[in-house]
Amino acid sequence: MNDPQLYSRASPFQVRDATQILGVYKKRMSPDDADIVLDIGCGSGDVTTNVLGPALGRFELLLGVDKSRDMVEYAQEHCEHDNVFYEVLDIAGDVSEFREEWGTFSKVFSFYCLHWVSDMRRALANIHSLMSSGGEALLVFVAQCPVFEMYERMAEMDKWKNYMEDINAFIPMTQHLAQPSFVFSQMMEEVGISTVNCSTMNRSFAFTSTKMLRDCMVAVNPFIKRIPLQQRNEYVEDCIKTLSAIRIESGNVNENETCCFSYKLLVAHGAKN
Ligand SMILES: C[S@@+](CC[C@H](N)C(=O)[O-])C[C@H]1O[C@@H](n2cnc3c(N)ncnc32)[C@H](O)[C@@H]1O
Repeated sequence: MNDPQLYSRASPFQVRDATQILGVYKKRMSPDDADIVLDIGCGSGDVTTNVLGPALGRFELLLGVDKSRDMVEYAQEHCEHDNVFYEVLDIAGDVSEFREEWGTFSKVFSFYCLHWVSDMRRALANIHSLMSSGGEALLVFVAQCPVFEMYERMAEMDKWKNYMEDINAFIPMTQHLAQPSFVFSQMMEEVGISTVNCSTMNRSFAFTSTKMLRDCMVAVNPFIKRIPLQQRNEYVEDCIKTLSAIRIESGNVNENETCCFSYKLLVAHGAKN
């Protein structure tokens, strides 16, 4: 996902979920005027600047980081102000230079990013190293979703399989787990982050039109840029048809909500001693 403009206008459920979850967790995390805050996988910066910043109220510094340079440049241009900044960082890479430059953070957030990271353990170890002692983290990502099943089915189709050979890198390890929160909480403990709370949350979203559904699917589809331009419409149509078939098979269809889909978020609140 490297199209910040599209993501910025086609991420309504991500904005809704971050807003609602922060509404609950800001009371539990006792924000502080002196907080140094990190938002991992900030994307276009909309959630960082317009949702996370206002939810925190006062803080010393809020830094959004993302692996994608395109996203960071967009966020710097559209969402940087006062004490809110953006930088490039791969949370599953080597974070030592970044840590030397920026130090550690009293609050670490991540919304809708960690399901993109195939080495979750390395990402968690890095998050631990970027947290100050006594610091807290709130990590929210898509644990299970029919969109991932749709990718798996599309990767078996003769038409598309050559563009989706590395499919496994885009399916989070939680997708096929019976107890994703148990496994994730164990991983946090293993890297030294104590679990305050870790659970999955059933969510659903009703898109107002098929165009909105299509835009949202395209905005987060990691394969779309590999598909030749003249076949992209066909690819997107196949994505929508496959998703719809999955919903019908699961019995998860309400006639009044033609564009509704359900997913599970994992919400983990952790602390570093
Ligand atoms: C769906 S967007 C979420 C944006 C924003 N947090 C929100 O809630 O709307 C996911 C972002 O995670 C970023 N991302 C994926 N893997 C990453 C990694 N290893 N390190 C940092 N960012 C990553 C992507 O580039 C993308 O911008």
